[in-house]
Amino acid sequence: MHFMRELGQKKLILPIAERFTGVYNSIKYLERQEGFMEMEEMEKRERYRMAKMQLESLFEGERDRIANLANASALLNEVMDDLNWVGFYLMKHGELILGPFQGKTACIRIPVGKGVCGTAVAKDEIQLVYDVHEFPGHIACDSASSSEIVLPLHADGRIVGVLDIDSPRIGRFTEADREGLALCAKVIEEACDWKEQ
Ligand code: SME
Repeated sequence: MHFMRELGQKKLILPIAERFTGVYNSIKYLERQEGFMEMEEMEKRERYRMAKMQLESLFEGERDRIANLANASALLNEVMDDLNWVGFYLMKHGELILGPFQGKTACIRIPVGKGVCGTAVAKDEIQLVYDVHEFPGHIACDSASSSEIVLPLHADGRIVGVLDIDSPRIGRFTEADREGLALCAKVIEEACDWKEQ
């Protein structure tokens, strides 16, 4: 009788213990993932701090818009991982026109309000797109693009263009990218002469 009771308890206790171990392991796994993501964000922030300084030294003594934007796209392409396109669209006669970039050939004109770039201008807001396939009206210049970030650029209180970056990886851009790239965009805005030649 005593033996039977013990067996019954074991039958009951073991699955419960196993279930708790499973939950415990899942929590530990999530904690590790969270820690890993935090480390990734920290590493990104450090990379952007360096990129900002590199941009500043790249622009020293030069205010030509095209030259500086060409070098900025090359530098960002070098220091950032998992990109398939990085470059600029410039405002001209009320629409965005392709500027200096790194990547595959791209569409030339984007009307304000269209695509991710045109939306960034219309709303005057950074667009951080986790999955471009979910963005209504996304303009697919390169079919490899899966996520995107677009930052409006300003001079004398008006929008002069956008910085557009695409990645083949869904969810590539995070808050660390938004903050870091906003710092880089500020350096770019201040370094260029935005009057059209
Ligand atoms: N995807 C952008 C178009 C520009 S390319 O990505 C270079 C958009 O939807 O506005």
